[in-house]
Amino acid sequence: MKVLVVGGAGYIGSHTVYELIKDNQEVIILDNLSSGYKELVHPKAKFYLGDIKVKSDVENVFKQEKIDVVMHFAAKLIVPESVKEPLAYYYNNVEGVRVLLEVMNEHNVKKFVFSSTAAVYGEASGVCQEDMITKPINPYGETKLACERMISWVANAHDFKFVIFRYFNVAGADESLKIGLMKDQLTHLIPLAIQGIIGIRDHLTIYGNDYPTKDGTCVRDYIHVSDLASAHVLGAHYLFEGGKSETINLGSSQGFTVLEVAQAVNEIAPLKVVIGPRRDGDPAELIASNEKAQRILKWVPKYELKDIVLSDYNYRKKISNR
Ligand code: UFG
Repeated sequence: MKVLVVGGAGYIGSHTVYELIKDNQEVIILDNLSSGYKELVHPKAKFYLGDIKVKSDVENVFKQEKIDVVMHFAAKLIVPESVKEPLAYYYNNVEGVRVLLEVMNEHNVKKFVFSSTAAVYGEASGVCQEDMITKPINPYGETKLACERMISWVANAHDFKFVIFRYFNVAGADESLKIGLMKDQLTHLIPLAIQGIIGIRDHLTIYGNDYPTKDGTCVRDYIHVSDLASAHVLGAHYLFEGGKSETINLGSSQGFTVLEVAQAVNEIAPLKVVIGPRRDGDPAELIASNEKAQRILKWVPKYELKDIVLSDYNYRKKISNR
């Protein structure tokens, strides 16, 4: 397969490129390097610098490459930032996908793997199933849901086939430690907690301990980025082999509170924790059912929370003096 990975120089995109290349696929990357890094680009991938919101940039790739499957990772994804800057999220996340779909359609490329998010579920109670009602509580989730709907209408009109993946909380780094989440991009819990044990910050602030959960802190479902990436490879094969359109959660089916994550980090080295106020846009609990991913794609995550935390620790130590 020839796979176009849009956003392949970013954190999740680069891990997916690594898994595709391990699977002997040919990889083309389109990235504007707004939050991606040239050094995360796999040496065997072909790189195009360009922005998916600029139609000529996207056309340039499709004119030169005969693409089988497109994967999209080029999104803004920080929940609190989306609350402060909703228009930037609509422009980048929705307009970018609209342009990409338009060019795909014009070039008769009709297989699409799209990164969506658990944030489409909003305040879910219990375990999230894919057919549950979607009700985002922040602009990030709204923009991803708008894309999901756009993709499904395009599929209806133009015989597209898609796999939409709804990610839960992604962390960790490839075992090679050549790629990972860079240190100027940290807003997520696990890397911030790890920074608290490697001397970069002196404590972790927990955003609220008055949620209706077992210890008052938010519950999330953590998934290793390499497990997430390998699901994309399975998704591409599934579409290439004629699979029908599906929306699929990617998570571990297990929830951990913020305090439990802090405890897992504390087992590597002592972590000081301070309780702060709630953060805007945070639902109390998000846990995936991953039964559909297992059934349709035969996907089984390999890593547990302790592996994810250790993997992020190893990567952060490696890049700490750069
Ligand atoms: N948190 C802290 N302190 C921090 C950072 C985070 O207490 O310093 C808490 C948050 O308040 C939240 C939990 O840790 O309760 C996880 O927060 P993250 O920022 O790590 O991740 P989010 O749950 O906000 O968002 C992530 C992705 C979204 C996705 C969501 C799905 O960024 O794309 O997971 O669960 F939708």
